[in-house]
Amino acid sequence: MEKPSEPTTPGHGPPSNTDALYAPFRPRRQLLVLVALLTAVFYKFFVFPDSARIAGTKLPESYVLCTHDGSDAGVYTVDDADRRVSCIGVKRDVVFATGSREDVHASWTRDADADAKLATFYTKPGAIIVPGLADAHAHVLDWGFKEQLPLEECKSVAEIRAKLKQYLLDHPDVLRDSSAWIQGMGWDQTKWPSASFPTADDFDEEPLLRGRYVVLSRVDGHASWVSHRVLDDMSELPDEVDGGLILRDGSGKPSGVFVDNAMALVPLPKWTDAQMSGYFETAMKDALSVGLTSIHDAMATPENIQFFKKQAEAGTLPIRLYLMGNVQSDTYWGNQIPKLIDYGRDKRLNVRSIKLFTDGALGSWGAALLAPYSDKPDTTGLMRIQAATLKNLVEGFYRDGFQVNIHCIGDRANKVVLDIFEDILSRPGVDVETWRPRIEHAQIMQLSDLERIGRLGVIPSVQPTHATSDMWYAETRLGPERIKGAYAYQTLRQNSRNGIIALGSDFPVEGINPLLGFYAAVSRLSVRGDSPNGTEGWYPAEALTRAQALRAMTRNAAYAAFAEKERGTLVPGMKADYVVLDRNIMDERSPVVEILEAKVLATAVDGRVAYGGI
Ligand SMILES: *[C@@H]1O[C@H](CO)[C@@H](O)[C@H](O)[C@H]1NC(C)=O
Ligand SMILES: [Zn+2]
Repeated sequence: MEKPSEPTTPGHGPPSNTDALYAPFRPRRQLLVLVALLTAVFYKFFVFPDSARIAGTKLPESYVLCTHDGSDAGVYTVDDADRRVSCIGVKRDVVFATGSREDVHASWTRDADADAKLATFYTKPGAIIVPGLADAHAHVLDWGFKEQLPLEECKSVAEIRAKLKQYLLDHPDVLRDSSAWIQGMGWDQTKWPSASFPTADDFDEEPLLRGRYVVLSRVDGHASWVSHRVLDDMSELPDEVDGGLILRDGSGKPSGVFVDNAMALVPLPKWTDAQMSGYFETAMKDALSVGLTSIHDAMATPENIQFFKKQAEAGTLPIRLYLMGNVQSDTYWGNQIPKLIDYGRDKRLNVRSIKLFTDGALGSWGAALLAPYSDKPDTTGLMRIQAATLKNLVEGFYRDGFQVNIHCIGDRANKVVLDIFEDILSRPGVDVETWRPRIEHAQIMQLSDLERIGRLGVIPSVQPTHATSDMWYAETRLGPERIKGAYAYQTLRQNSRNGIIALGSDFPVEGINPLLGFYAAVSRLSVRGDSPNGTEGWYPAEALTRAQALRAMTRNAAYAAFAEKERGTLVPGMKADYVVLDRNIMDERSPVVEILEAKVLATAVDGRVAYGGI
């Protein structure tokens, strides 16, 4: 076949050719630029007189924000009737009216000082406005931590070694200091050709890593892979760990991987304040850029709480944080968790809940099941805590007025926790609305427990990307029967009290962009558009509609944090936390891939633009 011939100018090589062709046109290009500028100025001042790009402080104290020309009702209020409007009116930090532009202006002249002029701003054509997005289960500082050495893209042990080597070359200070710890997160042996756990020996193949302290957490945070230098520093390891595993080689020597409770044996240095500040900054910057205005932190140590408290006092929390306190102890530790309600200069910090753990994760066969694993019949997984101990702790936290949020992956963990919750909730005078206990993950449940969690009014807090990350191996682990009660988000929603199911990401286990969870929830597809069930999606009957998913990421998440009277909807009286997206992800007829392509144009908290511009 012949290549189509390219136009050539005889006697001119390609580089000078370009110059020769374009040089004479330069004056005309300048003219074009001038015309474009004049057109822009004309549109800005004469066609859309009120519209302007605004960022942060430039917004007036009160304003009206409308989608496009105010007629396409692109504001999703997520009110009881899922009403759409064209405009919202913002007075300082709250929404004072919604409706058409005229409605909002009329409301302003009626209720406020009519003299003050109210400016109207418009989004770009096609953009929509939704309430500020919440992540009901994530790990704020760990996000920043993971970002400094992310490993989740590595497809083999060799790639991990190469990544660590590059990290050392990029960080000469760490390279020079042979006592420095190299810490990373994100490895996942199920993505490697071997599919088996790595060992300490694996690090030694890279000369730069030999004799160094290396600790890498598994993608789910449920296993640590350490180097020989770390193993050497660990004096006398126990033979067994309750609720944990020390992996060993053929001769019984620890091989370098510690699972669940055994991870506590690794003598990790504590994060310094400077490290926490760095991780915090990364997390806040990234969160705002993807439309998050509120995050529930699913494991805040007393040190972490002090750190966030200082940020709140200094007024440096750009978004709202709802912390679940945690101390790794079987002895009651409620006295170590301060209760903070609407705390700090901007009233953005809340601490009134705690987090407890039961089992491990499915990927490392750590999820506690009622019957043996289908692909590992010698194990039913790990309960990290005795049921009686857990019950005592829950009783203590209930008595002291803490919301109790418990990590449950396997059907056994979910059953044990529902038994405990049911016992307390069935006592006279106990009100589930007041206590609002939550199950974090609610991942694999007996069908009877899918019904029971709803009947009791316990809030399921789920992570749709876990379904699409685990779908490639979950059925192998669980078999064809148990899988029916796994990642069953639509069933959970339908059964739950008032349809309340909250969505989160569990970042850094998954990505920070909440639209990844929205996409997974509505499509049950990987980001490549496939699934074990092809393009139909994995058990698509358990998908949520877009309206249900948005509700679960806004007002339901707010409910799960006792904040449904303050945020999560765009109706008068609520905080003006909102996100402007560049396209309509809510249209059920638009291809799901558009969700992944959507960009956040602006994120506003308390009525002020904290990221982007309108
Ligand atoms: C595959 O998709 C079909 C059609 O949507 C659905 O009925 C079926 O349950 C799905 N099967 C699995 C294993 O996801
Ligand atoms: Zn988590």
